[in-house]
Amino acid sequence: MRKKLMAANWKMYKTPDQTRDFFRNFLPLVSGQTRDEIVVCPPFLDLPAAIESAKGSNVAIGAQNVHWKEEGAFTGETSAAQLLAIGVTHVVVGHSERRQYFGETDDTVNLRLKTALEAGLTPICCVGEVLEEREAGMTDDVLRRQCVRAFHAISAKKAAKLVVAYEPVWAIGTGKTATPEIAAEAHAVIRYEAGKIFGEEFAAQLRILYGGSVKPENASALMAQEEIDGALVGGASLDPKSLAAIVKY
Ligand code: PGA
Repeated sequence: MRKKLMAANWKMYKTPDQTRDFFRNFLPLVSGQTRDEIVVCPPFLDLPAAIESAKGSNVAIGAQNVHWKEEGAFTGETSAAQLLAIGVTHVVVGHSERRQYFGETDDTVNLRLKTALEAGLTPICCVGEVLEEREAGMTDDVLRRQCVRAFHAISAKKAAKLVVAYEPVWAIGTGKTATPEIAAEAHAVIRYEAGKIFGEEFAAQLRILYGGSVKPENASALMAQEEIDGALVGGASLDPKSLAAIVKY
């Protein structure tokens, strides 16, 4: 019922040449793969090379962030209009690394999300608890808070394209994956919260991805969970064969 979305987050890896190389190798491996949607999110610098390489293929291109203002004196930032102008269709919002290292707050996540939705981009909004929060039994509260604040003052109509990614911070880049059951439980909390905010019908359609050490070896067990509607893949998305294996779980 919900088409899965398999998204790659390259973080701060690869040059434009390496991007072109990646697509040269990756596209033949996934051609005709239409069961799920495929999106690659390279660094800003690589977006034009990625868009050119993926043109006419079944792979869409996303950015890793977007600013909420239309334009202005915001050094180092990129607007939704700039992304749309070159053919970007998706954008990651509120990744835990932005929250951890670059001062991203629940409020700025909300601003970015609103802007992405208004612009017609498909936002992949990341939520997730850190290890101390999980150990203190606060996971559900943290997810609820992050959802309430991120979705604040957004209507269900406006949110139509919203995608959420559950990314437990303790599982990102650590090799530790949440078990499919742990992930499914968290997804159910997020879906319930989205239902309270946007209505149950919306929540039933909402795609919730899992992210955190997804690899070819664990992708099929994770994707077998009814609650899991795709993956946000970091480290294992840098190699074309590995990402193709995940996409074809
Ligand atoms: P990882 O990263 O797959 O390397 O754990 C996931 C993410 O941060 O989106």
